[in-house]
Amino acid sequence: MAGPYAPVDNEIDSIELEVAGALPAELDGRYFRNGPNPLPGEISPHWFVGDGMLHGVRLRNGRAQWYRNRWVRTLKLDRGSPLREDGSLNRAYSTANTSIIRHGRRLLALVEGSFPIEVTPDLDTVGACDFAGALTTAMTAHPKQDPITGELHFFGYDMRPPFVTYHRLSAAGELVFSTPVDVPGPTMMHDFAITENHVIWLDLPVTLQFSGKGLPFQWSDDYGARIGVMSKNGGPVRWFEVEPCYVFHVGNACEDGSGRIILDAIRYDATAWNSTWPALAGETPSPGTGRGQQLYRWTLDLATGRVAEQPLDDRSVEFPTVHAHHVGRPNRHLYAVECETIVKYDVDTGKSTVHQLGSGWNAGEAVFVPAADAHSEDEGWLISLVIHDDTNVPSQLRILDATAVETGPVAAVRLPRRVPIGFHGNWITEE
Ligand SMILES: [Fe+2]
Repeated sequence: MAGPYAPVDNEIDSIELEVAGALPAELDGRYFRNGPNPLPGEISPHWFVGDGMLHGVRLRNGRAQWYRNRWVRTLKLDRGSPLREDGSLNRAYSTANTSIIRHGRRLLALVEGSFPIEVTPDLDTVGACDFAGALTTAMTAHPKQDPITGELHFFGYDMRPPFVTYHRLSAAGELVFSTPVDVPGPTMMHDFAITENHVIWLDLPVTLQFSGKGLPFQWSDDYGARIGVMSKNGGPVRWFEVEPCYVFHVGNACEDGSGRIILDAIRYDATAWNSTWPALAGETPSPGTGRGQQLYRWTLDLATGRVAEQPLDDRSVEFPTVHAHHVGRPNRHLYAVECETIVKYDVDTGKSTVHQLGSGWNAGEAVFVPAADAHSEDEGWLISLVIHDDTNVPSQLRILDATAVETGPVAAVRLPRRVPIGFHGNWITEE
């Protein structure tokens, strides 16, 4: 609730934003970022709990045409009840504070405990979306769109069995497939992965445990840690035991052509988890730049049943992103952020390059936008909403040339206000 995390207390609109440098004229769309922003006067018990606020910037013809911010107007925000008349959970009761995606004709603001909330391209709220009544579970904030089929793969997790349910939307946005996934308990599954043929499950030892404060999730020494491989058509899950860890965010997964699955994600061991989670509830100082979570690779061999594990870097990065056309397919480049740094990885060579934002600046998730006539995977732009520790400093939308992140931003849009540190961003093309 304090410093760069402090919520803002109003919705504003601003036009013709000041730009330093040259905005690529081909960027025609809207950058949106979601994050928790409790209403004025409310105190949030945990960073993850506040009502979602969307911040949007419209880029067109080399100009930053507007900025606006809007709360997602959910049943929760309007002080409705979390329960239906029959006492069951109303999935429309949502903070909608974690991410925003486009699928089919819909823009959806997501948080993992609830239905998606549809919003307009101008960030007005349409309402909860259950795909014509077909969705009966929550929806993760991290669905995966298959770049070839256009289908949207996702899941919902619950505190009661079935603890995890897998779903698939057609490219047009109809819910066409749902099946339960067998895990032994109420694991906090924030993200997952897809490959060409498979869905990859993270059944990890942060589980629902009521402790009376903050959010009811804790590390469990008994739960074990498994990564599961399931056909996109459902059926049995092939589980691989792994060293205990937690993963909020997957970078990518793919099949390597010799029966192996490669999964790159940001891994927390017990120590990293136990320093990070209380910090997210404001109970301890932020862990800062010490050894915490790491970019990490699991190689699952479907032929032998063996798993190889290795860190790919020792920086405490988060918010991994890849070119959307490479989701579930091999990728060479992966982007992530650590405090004042945006990191570009070449996961083939192990090399990395960085953009240092400057003292006091916090990097937001670096979203990759391919260039109009790209000939290589990294030809394009990285867009990151960067936020200063000093709450008097307006935030910026920085645009980097992804082939040369170390040369610094090609453009920086000065926003008309500070934006609180938040969660996930996305670039929505105008077409
Ligand atoms: Fe997330």
